[in-house]
Amino acid sequence: MAKPQAEQSVFWLGSFTALTFIVAIVATGIAPSVNPHLNGNFSDEDHYHASYQYVNGQLVQVSSAKIDDSKPVFGYTLLQERGRLVYQREGCVYCHSQQIRPLASEMLRYRIGSSVAPSSDEREYIYDQPHFLGTKRNGPDLDRVGGKYSDDWQYSHLYNPAQMVPGSIMPAFTWLFVNKNPADPSSVPIPTIDARALVAYLQTLGAGREVYDPALNGGKGGWRPWLKLQDAVTNQTMSEDTVHRAKVPIIVPGGSTASSSVMYQ
Ligand code: HEC
Repeated sequence: MAKPQAEQSVFWLGSFTALTFIVAIVATGIAPSVNPHLNGNFSDEDHYHASYQYVNGQLVQVSSAKIDDSKPVFGYTLLQERGRLVYQREGCVYCHSQQIRPLASEMLRYRIGSSVAPSSDEREYIYDQPHFLGTKRNGPDLDRVGGKYSDDWQYSHLYNPAQMVPGSIMPAFTWLFVNKNPADPSSVPIPTIDARALVAYLQTLGAGREVYDPALNGGKGGWRPWLKLQDAVTNQTMSEDTVHRAKVPIIVPGGSTASSSVMYQ
């Protein structure tokens, strides 16, 4: 067989490339009429709120409802907005994500009490610029952490994470507190306005989401805020007990015997 001429190979390669482009352009042109998602015009049907429950060891979708656009997605107060900036400044986003993907493992992992964590949706980030979706989970996702712990717990944890969660590798944010005097056992660190703003912001995470509760309306079912009051209460006790909540908000070395093993940073 004769070897193809160089000009012939160039001709065929060129024709093949041109054909690929033509096919791609035609496909892109007709695609929106085949798949409505591609025309950039998302219809109302695309905005659904799905709710899941843990039934007999399985995560099952119990309901979905169209997102009610008239329902408010909450903005931030000035204090909470300041807290967002502190969160950004302190680099919390490098270790914590703020997104629960619609995967069973994530929704179950972040459940609080009997409420399975609803996956995150785009509306939740409406007031977040920049958003803190994050890409790393050195620590747990924080998208539903609001209400999980008391403010006190959050302060103690920020001041000295290992005090609240033994073995924690989260850095201690001691500079968010004043009145720290290791030599004086009676000195109790006081959260600065930045710490208070940060905690106020953390407590908003997860607000504005709803889950379907079949027990509502006399068994007919209905939507309620994702965190049930009793979940918040039981869970608060549960989480705070499991992490050995300290009796006093901040333990100072040299104080009680319980504090002797605590590192002061
Ligand atoms: C170097 C990584 C790292 C950084 C930076 C970091 N964290 Fe953490 N965080 C962790 C780890 C690891 C845990 C899990 C252990 C624990 O609870 O202390 C955690 C846990 C938490 C928890 C408890 C979550 C839960 O559901 O129990 C909160 C709240 C939290 N971090 C907030 C913050 C905030 C706010 C900042 C920024 C001021 C921050 N973290 C910065 C690593 C980090």
